[in-house]
Amino acid sequence: MAGDPLPDGAVIWTRVDVPQATSGVEVVWSVSRSPDFDSIVVGGLALAHPDTGCSVKVPVTGLAADRWYHYRFEALGSTSRSGRLRTAPAPGASPDRLRFAFASCQQLSSQFVAHRAIAREEGLDFLMHLGDYIYADDAATLTREQYRNAYGHWRMQPDLRELHSALPTVAMWDDGEFFNGVDATADPERLTAATLAWFDSFPTSDPGDSTAFRALSWGDLADIPMIDVRSHRDPAAEETDYTSIGTPHDPARTTLGAEQYRWLTGLLDRSSAAWRVIGNPYNIAPWKLVNLEWLRPFRPEMPAGAGIYAPNEAWDDYLRERRDLLGHLEAHNIEDTVFASGHTHMFITSELRVEDEPSRTPVSADFCTGSLTADPDLRTAYLGDLPLEAAEAVLEVAENWVVANNAPSMRHFNMVEQGYSVMELNPEELVVTHRLVDTHDPAAQPRDGARFRVRRGSARIEVLPTPGASGAFA
Ligand SMILES: [Fe+2]
Repeated sequence: MAGDPLPDGAVIWTRVDVPQATSGVEVVWSVSRSPDFDSIVVGGLALAHPDTGCSVKVPVTGLAADRWYHYRFEALGSTSRSGRLRTAPAPGASPDRLRFAFASCQQLSSQFVAHRAIAREEGLDFLMHLGDYIYADDAATLTREQYRNAYGHWRMQPDLRELHSALPTVAMWDDGEFFNGVDATADPERLTAATLAWFDSFPTSDPGDSTAFRALSWGDLADIPMIDVRSHRDPAAEETDYTSIGTPHDPARTTLGAEQYRWLTGLLDRSSAAWRVIGNPYNIAPWKLVNLEWLRPFRPEMPAGAGIYAPNEAWDDYLRERRDLLGHLEAHNIEDTVFASGHTHMFITSELRVEDEPSRTPVSADFCTGSLTADPDLRTAYLGDLPLEAAEAVLEVAENWVVANNAPSMRHFNMVEQGYSVMELNPEELVVTHRLVDTHDPAAQPRDGARFRVRRGSARIEVLPTPGASGAFA
């Protein structure tokens, strides 16, 4: 696997399958411009050590900027399959585009059809994987080795392996990498085990302090901070009724933690790139089930954004921190900043306004992608007593209801389908396409579900005409 494209290299990763206890295995790695490795650009020796589950992580340097290479490993007399890595454009270079897929949530009970579709997409620079890469067993995955084995288990999926050899992966965790609903108050031993196993299993640049948040750059086109919303956060708010000041409004509550918040706002302040794209494992867009603003004449003391919210474990649980972050963008005139998000298993596309106040100008936009693998089919799992057409009509009403209750910010909501999203940016505009895949059909081809454009200098989302688009739009 290759990860994190840097201007002069990338991190490459493999794991050696060792039949019995060993003190370590020597691994030869090599990087070439050609798929047949007829000339080696750089190479070397690394030690696969049992402490890391016999994984090897090589920070390859000395490569030319903005290029594709091939890499492979040799150990114990055999040669790995080769993969492709990519370097980022040099600092100060002005690339005319960046195109990447972003995705989250893969369950082993389902087919990995969407993975195959991403591997075959034209012209992608990398895959941003926003977590729920594994769903650790809440009760039985506890030790570093057990977590590592879970990654190994997932990677038996041929379509996932194919995808990893085709494209670099820029990864961040959600809660599946720990256990359902994880936060900073979790058992420290288990948090550490899961964290170390993640570093053992992904080709991320690792400063050595188990800090997962980090940033990539794409010349002067984009800065790409990848944020960790899970391991530093306060517990999720239990309540969903936000018509009075409650836990989510507590100014002390955080999903980023103070250190990461400072790091992120500092990076946004300094960034001179055309775009800032924040890899954000769970949606920052508000997701109200019922907007209760109409009550305000009778209850003027209600806090901003009054309503009943989806019990979703996301930024809605940290209203003050969200207000501070979006307020920071507004106060410091930081424009052209968007979020690429995951986690909800639903496609949600929203403009972001400070306190979600309809009269304010949007300061950012959130593109939340769906699930890579199948969920229970809402039409049959929950509405199975209805004829299919009636079930679809009910879901359409529900989607339109959610969009209406999050007006004017929410522009699109698709709660039914699965897939991934593609973001393409250039110095003038950014286009996001939600790609839908029928994960129940092993031969499924992706199709465009909805397309959106954001132009530089405005955070307004334009809905682009898309024949055959599905879900509700505003
Ligand atoms: Fe998930």
